[in-house]
Amino acid sequence: GEYRQDLIDRAARDHVLNASEIESLLTDDEAEKALAAAADRVRQEFVGDGVHLRGLIEFSNICRCHCMYCGLRCDNSKIERYRLSPDEIVELADKARGYGYHTVVLQSGEDLQFTAPVLCGIIRRIKAMDLAVTLSVGERSYEEYQAFREAGADRYLLRIETTDAALYERWDPGMSHARRIQCTLDLKKLGYEVGTGTLVGLPGQTPAMIARDILWYQQIDADMVGIGPLIPNGDTPLGKAAPGDWHLTRRMVSLLRLLLPEANIPATTAMETMVPHGREVILNSGANVVMPNVTEGDFRRKYALYPGKICVADTPADCRACMGGRIRAMGRFVAADKGFRHHGRRRQ
Ligand code: 5AD
Ligand code: FES
Repeated sequence: GEYRQDLIDRAARDHVLNASEIESLLTDDEAEKALAAAADRVRQEFVGDGVHLRGLIEFSNICRCHCMYCGLRCDNSKIERYRLSPDEIVELADKARGYGYHTVVLQSGEDLQFTAPVLCGIIRRIKAMDLAVTLSVGERSYEEYQAFREAGADRYLLRIETTDAALYERWDPGMSHARRIQCTLDLKKLGYEVGTGTLVGLPGQTPAMIARDILWYQQIDADMVGIGPLIPNGDTPLGKAAPGDWHLTRRMVSLLRLLLPEANIPATTAMETMVPHGREVILNSGANVVMPNVTEGDFRRKYALYPGKICVADTPADCRACMGGRIRAMGRFVAADKGFRHHGRRRQ
């Protein structure tokens, strides 16, 4: 008990732990509350009480990949595929701005019909609206990442999923772990704010691997880290796998805040799919970002990474009002700025 609290206090003060210390806290159920309390204080101290809302536009569910857990995998014939037009995407961004979002996240499967020139045109039109733009369209060449950046993209989300190369290549067949690391470093070099993260609960993943994930996020100085538990999808080869451990994921969020105090850390949709009001719990455990969906109509349901996705019957206006109310009820507030990554402690 005392040793555990000493470790947590030291992490909250120095933002340093070694792999075995991280692993001991990750696997300790009884550490969860104290970890969350310490992470909540560090979150307050470094990034404040503002919660940044990012409007998520799921613009295509067409994907060339075969990830064994993901409903968008190209081998899945059970979902209806769709692709929004550039005009439709720009219109959703304009509506997102109308709801008071300051960032839009353009997310899709790895859909190569969205060539660099097409995506650059979309990015330029959205940047003209004074919105921050986050891209999440998977692995592309250095030249394409450079073109997106020059068109105005500010941030890029590309989860590493796991830093264990063998585990990654087992569950993302056809993909190269070295290539994924290279993409992440390319994005950093190009001056993006880079988001990475872990899929918690991949079969064969160990707490030691998750500890190494956290150390790698520290090492690359990740600007954003998004993590969520595996939610088995019956239309995929991992449909009968055990779900990821929600509590382990929560402890990982808290450890991330202690060790990357300046990072933007979302309370992810998957955390709320597993536990009602899960996003509030995570916002009180170190997180400071939420990504409400601004996709409209039936496209929400069709963008089915995993079953049980929340808000499929809600409108963008519903989600914006819902999250605003919930954030205020927690004694926090919806941040009014674009929410770029912090450097150093918050000015008082
Ligand atoms: N359960 C939870 N998260 C998933 N993702 C994909 N499929 C699943 C699933 N079945 C996550 C991956 C990916 C992100 C967009 O969604 O981590 O990076
Ligand atoms: Fe969608 Fe609550 S966030 S309805």
